[in-house]
Amino acid sequence: MGELTLKAPAKLNLTLDILRRREDGYHDLRMVMQSISLCDTVTVRTETGGGGMTVDCGGAPLPAGPENLAWKAAAAFFAATGCSGGGVELVLQKRIPAQAGMAGGSADAAAVLRALKALCRPALSGEELEKIGAKVGSDVPFCVRGGTALAEGRGERLHDFSPLPACWIVLCKPNFGLPTPALFARVRVEALCRHPDTGAMEAALAAGDLCAAGRQLCNVFEEVLTPEERFEIEKIENSLRKNGALGAAMTGSGPTVFGLFSREREARQAEKTLKAEYSQVFLANPI
Ligand code: C5P
Repeated sequence: MGELTLKAPAKLNLTLDILRRREDGYHDLRMVMQSISLCDTVTVRTETGGGGMTVDCGGAPLPAGPENLAWKAAAAFFAATGCSGGGVELVLQKRIPAQAGMAGGSADAAAVLRALKALCRPALSGEELEKIGAKVGSDVPFCVRGGTALAEGRGERLHDFSPLPACWIVLCKPNFGLPTPALFARVRVEALCRHPDTGAMEAALAAGDLCAAGRQLCNVFEEVLTPEERFEIEKIENSLRKNGALGAAMTGSGPTVFGLFSREREARQAEKTLKAEYSQVFLANPI
């Protein structure tokens, strides 16, 4: 039997821009993505003898069958490589909230792909593994690669960026979920007013300038929120800024909001302030 346990880090969008709606129903995006220390833990066991596949979500309210992205990733891996797992068990220990804009499901899928590559040892480059990931979901290629990257196209065209400088990140998920397809459906690209300056974010990262990166945080999805959703998101952003955040924005299709801090003391104070009102507040670092 083979067994490997890997961390599955969440991602943040330092920027998220929507360029156009495509014929295939997807959107062309331009996003600066960052892996963070908030993570799930994924254990993959192969050659368990059964021949089938099982997913254990550790009690989290997630599908434990073929609809789970971790299962889909393993199935896509075996189809693409011709390897057979000889009975596979996937065990997910969830910490990343679902429907939060942090790619929790994609992170688990990417960890499954990386673990299966290490356990089954097919002749496969990192880029080929990312391509298998693209079949599972738009955020999976970035989650396979990790770090800091520009993601374009559906999210599968990746270009490494300089890392976000060491900092403290406070994340807060308000008590509602925003399903990604529903939020994309609200977008009229030509009606978007404020787009991120991706070049300025790239320059801020290249210069290792955390203050400038904080100023460039921008997510076009914030423009398509309902007034009630927007009120909640801006309330959290204002709380983060009041406690010293260098910038704050929503990540992905939301609704999680995050702020960047250079000082741990201020980050911990911001975390404490938000915890008085919200149940899902996290402190993390870039990785
Ligand atoms: O690729 P994934 O299954 O994660 O995408 C979920 C949904 O998000 C898609 O069905 C689509 O509605 C939307 N999406 C999009 N354009 C992208 C990525 C996702 O419209 N680039």
